[in-house]
Amino acid sequence: MKDKFDREITYLRVSVTDRCNLRCKYCMPPEGIEKKDHQDLLSLEQIYNIIKVSTKIGIKKIRFTGGEPLVRLGLPKLIKDVSQLEDIKEITLTTNGILLSKYIKELKEAGLNRVNISLDTLKPDRYKDITRGGDFNKVMEGIKAAQEYDMKPIKINAVLMKGFNDDEIEDFAKLTLEQDIIVRFIELMPFGERYSWTKDKYLSNSRVLESVKNLEEIDYDKGSPSRYYKIKGAKGKIGLINPISRHFCNTCNRIRLTADGNIKPCLHSDLEIDMKKYLGSEEEIYKGLLEAVNRKPFQHHINEEGYDPIKRDMNRIGG
Ligand code: GTP
Ligand code: 5AD
Ligand code: SF4
Repeated sequence: MKDKFDREITYLRVSVTDRCNLRCKYCMPPEGIEKKDHQDLLSLEQIYNIIKVSTKIGIKKIRFTGGEPLVRLGLPKLIKDVSQLEDIKEITLTTNGILLSKYIKELKEAGLNRVNISLDTLKPDRYKDITRGGDFNKVMEGIKAAQEYDMKPIKINAVLMKGFNDDEIEDFAKLTLEQDIIVRFIELMPFGERYSWTKDKYLSNSRVLESVKNLEEIDYDKGSPSRYYKIKGAKGKIGLINPISRHFCNTCNRIRLTADGNIKPCLHSDLEIDMKKYLGSEEEIYKGLLEAVNRKPFQHHINEEGYDPIKRDMNRIGG
């Protein structure tokens, strides 16, 4: 269905947990997060019911996110059930990749179509630093496993951070020369408690266009927030996700379900629709989803003076 601003909403991002096996500096406070009581989280059955009804408002694509989605037990079974819904055309996952080699076979068999893997540096010591302890080699194993299981196209998400990885832009870009993968640079967005940390390290993606030679823009996946490019002669592609310097709110096609049962019609708004009130029947769920689409804000206001970041940290939204 369309929202008030004539945008067709077809994509539901589902966060299945706010827990994570890493502690990325831009995403979580150092002490990690308070563990939620089980009853505060939606059960997998409740998530399935919401996804099922979401097809009635026109949702066709599901992405599972977290925290780290692969730490939620039972995810492959949920994917399997969702893959049986006729109207769902694509099921995808955004993961930090640490547990990917362990679960890839099960995920593929369950019906997962694709994975996006978060990786902000190609240097193991820097990886350990930004994730507060993560093992770079595990992510490499995850990427390899995804390639072996033909999860195409594999996308690597690298959040660009001033003074952290701006000297690695060319190395990331070079990965696309010989491999059919997509490397996407993402502008660092401000959230919740991480606001001042993120504000200091923000760097516009125009830096990528300055650093990588022989880049040409290509016509690829127009529904994505990313603009796509190719280095002349390369096998893979480069994507730029520019939520700050050149936002894409006017073509936004998505809503988000949080692990604690709220729909966020916009990533950068505190507006949330509490779906726990609506779980009694399919008609009720439908009502909640309609409300979410009808109240979807037009755009974010990050670039405006006096902008107040939203309260949730990224780990409790899922990107
Ligand atoms: P594809 O389906 O492969 O194109 O993936 P995706 O870009 O929809 O999902 P992914 O989880 O890989 O997100 C990549 C980055 O884009 C993350 O940093 C997200 O926070 C950011 N992003 C995704 N959707 C939105 C959005 O609606 N608004 C903003 N501002 N950022 C978004
Ligand atoms: N700004 C931009 N991207 C972010 N991500 C997490 N936090 C931020 C942020 N503050 C990215 C992750 C992951 C995706 C879901 O969102 O790296 O790839
Ligand atoms: Fe975990 Fe992803 Fe947040 Fe990093 S960005 S702490 S991998 S949820």
